[in-house]
Amino acid sequence: MWMRELRLGALAGERLRATLQRSALSTRHAVLATATAMALFAAACASGPAAAPTARSPSGGPPPAPLTPAPNVPGNPENGRQLFVAKGCIGCHTLRGVPAATGVVGPNLTNVALRPTLAGETIENSPQNMARWILDPPSLKPGTAMPRLGLAEQEARNLVAFLYSQPYNPAH
Ligand code: HEC
Repeated sequence: MWMRELRLGALAGERLRATLQRSALSTRHAVLATATAMALFAAACASGPAAAPTARSPSGGPPPAPLTPAPNVPGNPENGRQLFVAKGCIGCHTLRGVPAATGVVGPNLTNVALRPTLAGETIENSPQNMARWILDPPSLKPGTAMPRLGLAEQEARNLVAFLYSQPYNPAH
């Protein structure tokens, strides 16, 4: 199942490359327009504090990198990233890419989207099953140490979209 999703991801990559190559051809025509846009942008920046405020992470550091949604996974990964901190997932789980996520009560969630099963051997890993798990772990695995956190279904979907949007991390 996840092999298929990897293949789909690779196909999407190929398509993106083809699109980029195609757009490189039309880029020359866009140069003039881009230069104009940049001049306008520079003018907007020069106009000082009235320009749009820069997004900041809650810790005041640079804003986190934008996420690329995984194909065919519903939900809002950016909101999921916020929920991952706000709902306390970080207290029990480590996740590379989220500096505050250093918990060790539950498994390290780095590369979790690539695991064939969740919370042991029996629950097949799919976006649907992961959302069901996050909503109500004991209903899938009685006696598990991950509690029900009282999330809304959309919140669970957004958390799944976030976890599935994470790039493969070979260092893990
Ligand atoms: C109180 C600690 C705790 C909190 C809070 C918690 N988890 Fe967990 N989580 C666990 C434990 C323990 C497991 C392993 C459960 C098992 O195998 O029975 C787990 C397992 C998981 C798994 C399956 C991982 C795998 O490798 O199979 C996912 C996905 C997950 N948690 C996501 C979340 C998300 C998202 C949140 C926040 C909404 C969250 N968890 C909050 C303790 C926690």
